[in-house]
Amino acid sequence: MITIVVSSQKGGVGKTTVSINLAHSFARSGKRTLLVDADPQGSVGLSLTRQSRTLNGFYDAIGDPSCALEQLIVPTKLETLSLIPAGQCSDYELGVGAMGVSLERVKAFFHMADTQGYDVCIVDTAAGLFGVTADVLSACDAVLIPQQAEPLGVRSVPKILEALTKMRVVNPKLHVLGLVMTMVQNRLAESIEAVQAVRNLLPENMVMRTVVPRDDIFVQASAKGLPVGVMEQGAGVLAVFDNLRLEIENKTDLHSVLN
Ligand SMILES: Nc1ncnc2c1ncn2[C@@H]1O[C@H](COP(=O)(O)OP(=O)(O)O)[C@@H](O)[C@H]1O
Ligand SMILES: [Mg+2]
Repeated sequence: MITIVVSSQKGGVGKTTVSINLAHSFARSGKRTLLVDADPQGSVGLSLTRQSRTLNGFYDAIGDPSCALEQLIVPTKLETLSLIPAGQCSDYELGVGAMGVSLERVKAFFHMADTQGYDVCIVDTAAGLFGVTADVLSACDAVLIPQQAEPLGVRSVPKILEALTKMRVVNPKLHVLGLVMTMVQNRLAESIEAVQAVRNLLPENMVMRTVVPRDDIFVQASAKGLPVGVMEQGAGVLAVFDNLRLEIENKTDLHSVLN
């Protein structure tokens, strides 16, 4: 199983949207895919099952090692896509301040998931690179970093570089897939310039070719915690995430591992 964590220091940049729709694309391509919500405020699969807020999930597994992973897995309408909600136990309750406490458990969680026969595991995280997210970064194979296409503040690029460095310190083996520009508005010069600025400032292999356009369909889908692909008008944007998936597969040895 390949684990890809979707992470960024900033909130509201499209992490959850990218996680859900990328997982959906992997699943549609026939890969057995597990989507894990590691954001304690998580909203993945909000309406996939009505009770998903009250279900046990990732944080329960981290908090209680006797928690059986099989019991946390929520099937979806798509046979190849399953998810594990965030669960009940909060970051705070875990006393994650005591660093390192959760790392072994996070590793054990992904090890257990690995034994369930999945090809790919996509992990959505809370904003920031600390606490459980740092542990998830330590335990995963690759990271994808959504970056909103808005004019860059002077401190943005140093911040991005700092984040990349932090990730590599946390896990030297982590494959940094790079930034994926989100909420791109093709008819807005500022938005296009923001994408170009990021491409100019970072090495080519650090920015995915595929960009995620700004589209109201994402807002409608995320209100329901659904992939856009299952929405009536969502067909048009399926290709975006298929392209992103192909790029990820080609960028890594995922292609040979998965095919
Ligand atoms: N490509 C997009 N186009 C339009 N709205 C988007 C897009 N991606 C995300 N959004 C919206 O922006 C908000 C934040 O996105 P979300 O994926 O929840 O970000 P994060 O998980 O990083 O906090 C949500 O309301 C979501 O619907
Ligand atoms: Mg989110």
